[in-house]
Amino acid sequence: MADLHDLVRAHEAWRLGEAINLQPSENVMSEPARALLASDLAHRYTLPDAFNPSGGLGNAYRGTRYTDAVEALGEDVARRVFSSAEASLKPLSGHLAGFLLLQAACRRGDRVMLVHAKHGGYDGYMPGYLPEYLGLEVDFLPFDEASWNVDPRAAADAILGRHPRLVLLGASFLLFPYNLRWLRGACDDVGAVLGYDASHVLGLIAGGQFQRPMVEGVDLLSASTHKSFPGPQGGIFLANRTDLFERAMRGILWRVEDNAHWNRIASTAQVLLEMDAFGAAYAKQVVANSKALARDLDKGGFPVKFAGLGYTESHQIHYDPERLQASFGLTPPAFADRLESQGLIVDAVGRIGTNEVTRMGATVDHMKSVAGLIVRAARGEDVRGEVREVRAGLKLAYVFPS
Ligand SMILES: Cc1ncc(COP(=O)(O)O)c(C=O)c1O
Repeated sequence: MADLHDLVRAHEAWRLGEAINLQPSENVMSEPARALLASDLAHRYTLPDAFNPSGGLGNAYRGTRYTDAVEALGEDVARRVFSSAEASLKPLSGHLAGFLLLQAACRRGDRVMLVHAKHGGYDGYMPGYLPEYLGLEVDFLPFDEASWNVDPRAAADAILGRHPRLVLLGASFLLFPYNLRWLRGACDDVGAVLGYDASHVLGLIAGGQFQRPMVEGVDLLSASTHKSFPGPQGGIFLANRTDLFERAMRGILWRVEDNAHWNRIASTAQVLLEMDAFGAAYAKQVVANSKALARDLDKGGFPVKFAGLGYTESHQIHYDPERLQASFGLTPPAFADRLESQGLIVDAVGRIGTNEVTRMGATVDHMKSVAGLIVRAARGEDVRGEVREVRAGLKLAYVFPS
């Protein structure tokens, strides 16, 4: 049997030392954030009275005074960074934060309108998954494929016609901001809650890029904390409506989850502090790098989509699988395999992400090299040595001096 520690060491030598990660769903953490994941908080429980419907015990556990203070600190920074009235770091993942959002906004039998998976919407919100558990009816928001966005006018008409309880924006394939103010107006007309799944763009939002959902009219926001936001795997839940926030918090305990993971919350709080200090520079660079990488790939004959729209305003670039096949003779999985063999990690679903490489200090100049390496690797050239060279020149950025 392989040695467990050898396996993890080999993984880290490869993924942290040699490979360049361009998957938009992943990121890397600072050393302090990693250290907090391994702290004693990883072993502990806490259940403050305010969070315990039975009440009267103070805290159901003892030894919790610092744990509770860590959580309060994290929530405080989250409210500040996202300009949100309420914040919770308890959700264990983006998926569970989304579950909380749905159950806070809706009752069984209610209708939710959201982005279809064929337009990049999150698979977990498709009718057979979370909505089925919660007994929700699903309708899809009208979408304009040419601008890769929800069509705000058609969506407003659909909202007025269909009277959903919840309109939920956000997607896994996300390039351009939504017209939230327009949709807010339609939601107000029918008394609907406006929700936003920011799993992919949370790090951009933290830095004031892409859009500011909590300022542009969103009631509830759920997200992962490990995609463009460079934190540990986990979830976050934000709200501007205290009634719905309280309902979500009642929904967490003994329904969606029991204990939260306090080491992850401490680690997320550390990354929130980093984003509070450096998030603006990080997020701006992520978007600049996405645009630069897209432009350089396009120049190299790689089939990047949406050139006429400036390619992207997010951490993602999308490419056209049919043109990839025509120009390079590769399907997206074959393209991902070929790149992985060269130390360039992309996912197999047609996206390229600049979030992790930006966190690793990459600039627009690095993007020129990376674009060239992607194109040459896709053509079958051996670029392993050059990939390692570029990787060796990167160093984690947007962190406090040690
Ligand atoms: C839009 C969106 N929401 C939710 C999730 C689920 O996030 P997590 O993996 O943190 O549970 C994803 C995951 O890819 C996603 O893309």
